[in-house]
Amino acid sequence: MPARRGSRMFPDGTGPSPDPAGSHFERRIRSFQPRRSRVTTGQGEALRRLWPMWGLDIDGQRVLDLDEMFGGLPVVLEIGFGMGEATARMAAADPGTGILAVDVHTPGQGNLLALAERAGLTNVRVANGDAIILLREMVKPDALDGVRVYFPDPWPKKRHHKRRLIQPEFLTLAASRMKPGAVLHCATDWEPYAEQMLDVLTAHPDFENTVPEGGYAPRPAFRPLTRFESQGIDKGHVVHDLLFRRV
Ligand SMILES: C[S@@+](CC[C@H](N)C(=O)[O-])C[C@H]1O[C@@H](n2cnc3c(N)ncnc32)[C@H](O)[C@@H]1O
Repeated sequence: MPARRGSRMFPDGTGPSPDPAGSHFERRIRSFQPRRSRVTTGQGEALRRLWPMWGLDIDGQRVLDLDEMFGGLPVVLEIGFGMGEATARMAAADPGTGILAVDVHTPGQGNLLALAERAGLTNVRVANGDAIILLREMVKPDALDGVRVYFPDPWPKKRHHKRRLIQPEFLTLAASRMKPGAVLHCATDWEPYAEQMLDVLTAHPDFENTVPEGGYAPRPAFRPLTRFESQGIDKGHVVHDLLFRRV
């Protein structure tokens, strides 16, 4: 039987909700496309078992206590982790940082939970839903030690450009939830989007480029190759990293 809108994914009442915010915080323009994607047995098993412990539905109904969630660790928000391989690697390499990883993609949520468990990671939480609602309604001002947006959907068609995540309005919201000095790290293999990111970030009064002379940053050693990145590289795309500090 198909799950009811807003109901839990699994019959025993666990797992991510297909529509955690319901219609309370409906946004007209979304940066993601709801995908009908198959959850493998292993991913489903990880969701069922680990979601109650490490999962978080973005319902927009409460403000998070990040100190309590991550035992006082500095917390970085990763928006759009996809299948989560890069997230798990970064969490393993830096156990002193908590990663709040958000995506709407259910198979990826299961995959990341399974990877985190296998590696014995305790510094990853998986959030399900729209990162905008998470930031706007559930994260306190000046709370985040960093924000990562790796290979956001490029929305190449002109009529879809309004769906791109990295826009002035998003930057204002993200900056308000970041601590002064925290870094927003974006990466993309889509040249026109990289140019847009550079333009809007450079013009935004709440951010300054970590590269003193301006422009793109060298790829930091801590960012692993992501799944989308390697697909882009296979197509001959050039990858750009942008690291901007909240002033
Ligand atoms: C192109 S994929 C990149 C995935 C991964 N970072 C990588 O490099 O392999 C972009 C991801 O961002 C997610 N996404 C886009 N907008 C989002 C939003 N507003 N909130 C949460 N996730 C979002 C999509 O569901 C998708 O999984």
